[in-house]
Amino acid sequence: MSHPDHDTPCNTSANPHFADVLAQTLASPSRRQVLRGGLGLAALAMLPAGAGAAASASSPADALGFPSVDKTLVDDVTLPPGYRYSVLHATGDSLDPALPVYSNSGAETDDWSRRVGDHHDGMDIFFIDANGRYTQVDTGRAVLVVNHESSADSYFMHPNGQTSNGVAGKKFSQFGEWDLGNRPELEVLKEINHHGVSVAEIVRTPAGWRMAQGSPLNRRVTAQTPVRVAGPRAHLESIRSMMVTRWDTAGGMARGTLNNCGHGKTPWGTYLACEENWAFYFGMSSTGAAPDAKDVASRRRYGVVSAAPAANVTRTTSQGWHTVSTSDDRFARWNLAAVGANAERDFRNEANTFGYNVEIDPLDPASTPAKRVTMGRMAHEAAVFSLPVPGQPLAVYQGCDSRNEYIYKFVSTAAWDPRDVGGGIVAGDKYLNEGKLYAAKFNADGRGEWIELSIADPRIANHAGYKFAHQGDVFVNARHAADAVGATKMDRPEWGAVNPRNGEVYFTLTNNSAANRTPGRVDAANPRAYMDVDGKKGAGNPNGHIIRFREDGGQSVAMAFTWDIFLFGAEEDGGDANLSGLSAKNAFSSPDGLWFSPTTGICWIQTDDGAMTDESGCMMLAAIPGRVGDGGKVTVKNRMAVNGVEQTGTQETFIGAALGDAKLRRFLVAPPGAEVTGVTESPDGRTLFVNIQHPGENTKPGGAPESVWPGNKGYGRPGRPRSATIVITREDGGIIGV
Ligand code: FEO
Ligand code: CA
Ligand code: CA
Ligand code: CA
Repeated sequence: MSHPDHDTPCNTSANPHFADVLAQTLASPSRRQVLRGGLGLAALAMLPAGAGAAASASSPADALGFPSVDKTLVDDVTLPPGYRYSVLHATGDSLDPALPVYSNSGAETDDWSRRVGDHHDGMDIFFIDANGRYTQVDTGRAVLVVNHESSADSYFMHPNGQTSNGVAGKKFSQFGEWDLGNRPELEVLKEINHHGVSVAEIVRTPAGWRMAQGSPLNRRVTAQTPVRVAGPRAHLESIRSMMVTRWDTAGGMARGTLNNCGHGKTPWGTYLACEENWAFYFGMSSTGAAPDAKDVASRRRYGVVSAAPAANVTRTTSQGWHTVSTSDDRFARWNLAAVGANAERDFRNEANTFGYNVEIDPLDPASTPAKRVTMGRMAHEAAVFSLPVPGQPLAVYQGCDSRNEYIYKFVSTAAWDPRDVGGGIVAGDKYLNEGKLYAAKFNADGRGEWIELSIADPRIANHAGYKFAHQGDVFVNARHAADAVGATKMDRPEWGAVNPRNGEVYFTLTNNSAANRTPGRVDAANPRAYMDVDGKKGAGNPNGHIIRFREDGGQSVAMAFTWDIFLFGAEEDGGDANLSGLSAKNAFSSPDGLWFSPTTGICWIQTDDGAMTDESGCMMLAAIPGRVGDGGKVTVKNRMAVNGVEQTGTQETFIGAALGDAKLRRFLVAPPGAEVTGVTESPDGRTLFVNIQHPGENTKPGGAPESVWPGNKGYGRPGRPRSATIVITREDGGIIGV
C-alpha cells in the first residue's frame, strides 16, 4: 500500500543520519577482528529443531535452478517455465459455509467478520498433529494465518466505491482525505471487519492445498476483537492507566488489531500480527477539551491527530469511521477528542492501544490475543526471532516503517526452553512480557550498537521532546525514547529476516524521499541520494536497499554488531546508483517482504514499488546470500537536484559481494498495481505460499479496473481485482528455486 502517512515526517529529532558521522574511521581493527572470528560451530548449533531434517535432506542451494522472469505488465502472476500457481483464498471468500459466496460486486450485507479479509500481507503456516496440537512437522494439515493490512483502500468492497456525506464512488486511498460528513454504518462495519487477521485451516489434497471452509479452527481477528493488554509486571498498572477508555475503565483490555503488515512466528508456535499504519484511522470531533502538551507530543511523534479540525475545515485524513455515531462505541472509539468529563467517559486514549505486536494462538480459536507492550509501540512492520538457542534469551528484531524511523531489538528475560513449544499464549506471557527494548545505531566504521530504552538513562529521563512518566511510558512512546538516545534514522525499515544458516539478520529499507535524503544528508547505513533514472519516483533513495548485520559472537544478547549492505535496489540503467551491478534480469526496486527458506537457504525478496512500475509489476526475487563482510568498502557517488540546484557528494559504506545474474534472479512478477508480500513454504520446500496484495490499486474512481486478477484467470466471480494467497509448485514436483 502506498501509505499516505509515510510522507508525514514525524521524526523531527536531530539524530545522526547526516554527514557528521562521516568523520569516523572506516574498516577499523574491531570490525576486521569480528569478521575473522565468524560464527563457526556456534551457528550450526543454533539451527532450530525443525530445520534439522530439512537441512540434511537438501543442502543449501549454491545455484538457482530457474531462468529469470522478464519484467512484465501482464495481468497475471508470471512465473518461470515449469512453475505453476493456484489461488488458495482471496478477499471476501467465506470462512463459514453459512455465508453466501463472495459476489465480487460489493453486494454483501454481512459485516465480513466471517470472510477472508482484504489486502493479504504477512503470513505463516502452523501444522497440526493428530491430537490437534502445533507441530513443526508437515502433517498435511495446517492453519494458514494471514494479515490483512487493508490500509485505506476499500474501494472494491462496496457496490460503488466508498460513501461520505451521502456521495458514493469515493476512494479514500486516492485522496488521503474524506469529507467530514457521516459515513454509512454497513460500509464502515465492512471496513472495520476486513482488517485484522484470518486463520484458515488448509489441507493437502491430491490436487494440492485447499482451504477447509467451515473448519472450527477458522477464525477472524478483526479491528473489534477483544485483546488483552500485556506488559511487564512491574509496569503493567501504569501502562493500563494510559489505556483507560469508556469501554474498559481499567485499561486491561483493548479492541482489535489494525493495519497488520509483516508478522512474526514465535519459536513456541504462535503468531505475531504487527500493527503498522494504525495512526491514521483516528479522527477528532470539534467538541471537547484540547489534549495536554504531553499527549500532543506523543500523538505528533506517531502521526496521530492531535487537534480538532478548525471551523472552516471540512476534510479529514482519517477513515471517517468515527462519523457514523457518537454513542455507539464501535464507531465513537475512533474519535480521540476529549468529549467526556475524563478518560473513563470517552476514547481519548484509544490510540495508545494500537502500535503493538499482537500475539495470536492460531490453534486455539477461544484464546484471547495479547498486545505485547514491552516490545514497544511503533509502526511495526515485522517481528523476527533470533535462532532459538536453549538456555539463551530470545531476540526479536523489529522495524518501524516510516521515513527516518528506527530498527529495534527486544530481548526476553526468560531463556529459551524447547519444552515451551506448543505452549500458546501462556508461553508468550513468559517470553514477551519481561525483557529489554533496544534501538539500533549504525556507525560509519561498519559496526553498530544496541542502546537500551530505559528510563534509567538520563537522556531518556530528561528528554526535551517528551516527558516520560515511567518505564511503561518508554515502551508506549518508544519512538521518543529512541530519539533521545541517538538511534540511526533509516530509509523506512520494512521486513527483517534471519538467515537460518548463520543467524545473520537482514532488513529491507524500502526507500526514502528527497525531503530526507540529499547528497548532504546521507550516512554510511543509508548512503544514497539520487534521482529515479526516469523520473517516476522523484529523488532521495527511490529504490531502497537491504542491510544486514551479525551480532557479536552470534549472541541474541549482544550489545554490538557488524553490518554491511547486502543489496542496493536499482534499475539496470541506474548508473552510479546501481552499486550491486543489477541487470535487466534482476533489477528491483523498493524491497519490502523478506524471508529465508530454511530448506534451501534462498533469501526471498518481495517488492512494493512505484519506481519501476512503468516497466513491470512488483516482483519476487530469489537470492543466494553470502555473509556479512564478504564484499568490501565502496564509495557511493551521489547526485541529485535539490530545490532545482544539482548537488553532488560521496559517501563511503560497506557492500556485500556482488551476486551477479547467477545468484540473484527474478522469480515472480505480480499483476499491475499489486505488491508482493507474505511468503512461507512447506518444510519439504516443494510448496511456496505467496501473497498478492491490492492488484489494481491505482484504479481511478469510476474508471476501468487497472487489474481484474484473479477473476480473469478463473478464480471466483470476475469483474474486480482481489488480494489473494497463491500456492506455487513445480510441475515436476521438485523443490522450489533450486
Ligand atoms: Fe505495510 Fe511497510 O508496508
Ligand atoms: Ca527504467
Ligand atoms: Ca510491507
Ligand atoms: Ca523509474
